[in-house]
Amino acid sequence: MNDPFRHAPWDGLSKPFTIGMRPIAPTDWIEVDARLGTYLDEKALLEAADPAAVFRAEPGTGAAQQELLDILIGNLSAHHPETHRRHGDRIELPTAGRTIDLDAGDPPLLTASRLVQEDICLMHRTGEGWRLAAAALAFPSSWRLADKIGRPMAAIHAPVPGFAGRMDAMVTRIFDNLAPSQPVERFNWSLYDDERLHHPEPHPKAWRDADGRLEPARIHVRVERQTLMRLPQSHDIAFTIRIHQGPAALLAGTRSGRLLAADLEGLDGPQRAYKGWSADADDLIALFRKGAAR
Ligand code: HEM
Repeated sequence: MNDPFRHAPWDGLSKPFTIGMRPIAPTDWIEVDARLGTYLDEKALLEAADPAAVFRAEPGTGAAQQELLDILIGNLSAHHPETHRRHGDRIELPTAGRTIDLDAGDPPLLTASRLVQEDICLMHRTGEGWRLAAAALAFPSSWRLADKIGRPMAAIHAPVPGFAGRMDAMVTRIFDNLAPSQPVERFNWSLYDDERLHHPEPHPKAWRDADGRLEPARIHVRVERQTLMRLPQSHDIAFTIRIHQGPAALLAGTRSGRLLAADLEGLDGPQRAYKGWSADADDLIALFRKGAAR
């Protein structure tokens, strides 16, 4: 089933701009649904158009990339046998109508990303903290790989209000203590004015009509489900990002919509500004609370 709001972080799962991490079963690490083929087609188009925009890896990351790929294939074989079938050096994806060759000589992390709807990043520990060492990133939410690759968590999150200092230190400690092979998940969510999966641009907000009224049909809720899992051999961390999204109209005026409105209301000035909602927050809150006026 394809439920765009299968994860509704505003329903009490986690508050925006908090760490909000919880352990999950290995069965739930990777999410496969009916849109597998659509996501993989889109990844292939993006890779063909501009490979450096969607894949980068620092030298020396090959062994950890391979470790991640091996673990991913093991997980898919064990928990998603209907959608991922291994035949020697090939993985058949019957529901997506494609077969992935494991022996094609591509970087292992790129091969991994061709198997799943998730984007996948590899985090590596240095004296500076945890750094983004490699990434297959097709569906970013308002960031570009070129700006973040090779950078430590503090620099990656420099634009995020409240990350520097305490949250950065807590995240470093949590990363240092992650148990091998035990995935955890957390969520971010945002509002966009379209349903494109590939969204490197800053939060857009072309969602008002000619008279300046909020146009509910133009508003889409985008949920990022993120997981983290330590790799037992390299001690690097696999960080996955999976996009779920759906029209705001499905939530507006419902109980879930009112909870989303409450989270919006709780954002402070810098948080609203970071999201690009300073001028729109009050109208968005009213929309999700009451539903569309017409
Ligand atoms: C427990 C771990 C993490 C926490 C608590 C965290 C927290 C956050 C928060 C609160 C935001 C702002 C989200 C929003 O728009 O609502 C954010 C954005 C972001 N996070 Fe993380 N994050 C974590 C892990 C990571 C990792 C491992 C990466 C590695 C790539 C990453 C990359 C980013 C990027 C690129 C942004 C957008 C930054 C920008 O606006 O330029 N995060 N993160």
